[in-house]
Amino acid sequence: MTTPQAHSGSAPVSPPQCPAHGLGSGSPRRLYGPEAEADPRGLYEKLRAEYGPVAPVLLHGEIPVWLVLGYQENLVVARTPSRFSKDSRLWNAFREGWVKPDSPLLPVVGWQELVAFADGEEHRRLRRAVTDSLEAFDRRGIRRYVARFADQLVDNFAAAGTADLVSQFAEHLPLLVMTQLLGMPENYGSRMVEAVRDLLKGTETAVASNGYIVKMLEELIESKRINPGKDLPSWLLQHEAGLNNDELVEHLRLILVAGNETTVNLIADGLRMVLTDRRFRLDLTGGQMTLPDALERVLWDSPPLLLAPGRYATGDTDLGGQRIKEGDMVVLGLAAGNVDPQIRPDGDRALYGNRSHLAFGAGPHECPGQDIGRAIAQEAIDRVLVRLPDLQLAVDETDLSVAATWMASHLRELPVEFTPRPRKSKDARGAAGVGDVPPPGKPESAYAVAPEPAATPDTVATRIGSEPRRTLWDVLTGLLRRQ
Ligand code: HEM
Repeated sequence: MTTPQAHSGSAPVSPPQCPAHGLGSGSPRRLYGPEAEADPRGLYEKLRAEYGPVAPVLLHGEIPVWLVLGYQENLVVARTPSRFSKDSRLWNAFREGWVKPDSPLLPVVGWQELVAFADGEEHRRLRRAVTDSLEAFDRRGIRRYVARFADQLVDNFAAAGTADLVSQFAEHLPLLVMTQLLGMPENYGSRMVEAVRDLLKGTETAVASNGYIVKMLEELIESKRINPGKDLPSWLLQHEAGLNNDELVEHLRLILVAGNETTVNLIADGLRMVLTDRRFRLDLTGGQMTLPDALERVLWDSPPLLLAPGRYATGDTDLGGQRIKEGDMVVLGLAAGNVDPQIRPDGDRALYGNRSHLAFGAGPHECPGQDIGRAIAQEAIDRVLVRLPDLQLAVDETDLSVAATWMASHLRELPVEFTPRPRKSKDARGAAGVGDVPPPGKPESAYAVAPEPAATPDTVATRIGSEPRRTLWDVLTGLLRRQ
């Protein structure tokens, strides 16, 4: 079997300098683009049938990499940093100049001074700073934020009797909680939400969106140096690991990106499962299956990240019957590994209490925010079910559709109906309730995260330097100040 590296050189349809040049028929399949993104899981099964547990595939720019489909093989890669490093500077595609400066891959795999790109002692130093700072948050405090924001979001549509739980609920909640973790002030605009989403989409605007996020975070850190608070930037600044300015910015950016889209997907898919799977609905109400159990099932079957790029072979090595060459990129196939028939011959069997899925990765880089992600999703779904007990799907289950990028797939919408209810009255903390705010979905609404033109350096600069329009962010921070 040829390796991704061996494909480099020449191809009939692609320019001579393209690494996939010369692949001809039987060339690796693309892991990106309309065909792959229309049915990523179908693609993984085709690859598994064709190649077994490790398959050659192409990334943006026809760059050949390896996709790991086997559960055990994923664990080997994730747990053996001596063979599979996280340092992307080792990638042969960078060394050979195959990655263009505007490649959408760059924000995801371009090397940065970041825990996710470090090995060994350097990784331990950075990781300690992240985990100590995340652990400084009281978990019950996080759940209280979630409950409060969830109530406010539900208040926004409770009287209508219908809602889309993706755009009106799941997409907002994790970022709202992040504003608390990051101790963010008012003048950071709602572009953050879009920029974070855009970054993960891997579109041609990903680089500009990344630049926008970095600029906002630099401003945030400067303000925390002067006025520290009980928040992640302040704890990172004070940590004995002594992170420099670039490391601070990059770690906050990572947490925003890693913690937002993933948790949105977990909430949305958790709600979908609760609403569509009779077993969960019955079990949840009958007390036989807890919501945490239901979420673990989602993490097995619909992990919020389909893939985790990338690891880089430190030398020539064998994996799953393939010869991996030094400098080849190896992509963890989290969704594919979770349904590997070697470990789940009967894919439908219940997996109560079993948390050994790959949704949070494994090994030294296993997600340090998983408790927070789980807590946000559990509390969020719980609040919706408590507030709207007769909640049900407003469309046929078969009408629910999924949009995918190469790294993640998410529900487009989750239309629901329920008995209209009045807004929850102002609580003891004095929360104003989002009824003060126009509801989502209307173009003029401050609350709507209306689709905006893709970020460009110009629009980003304008936004940063000028008074933003009244946005989701302003509304939120206004609410918080009043509490
Ligand atoms: C359901 C929600 C989440 C999922 C599914 C998820 C998934 C993952 C995965 C798969 C990795 C490992 C990637 C790799 O090995 O290459 C990871 C790493 C990471 N995650 Fe999460 N994540 C979630 C929530 C969060 C949250 C809420 C935070 C922060 C508050 C966070 C922060 C991080 C960080 C900092 C890393 C890098 C760790 C390292 O490289 O040592 N994640 N996450």
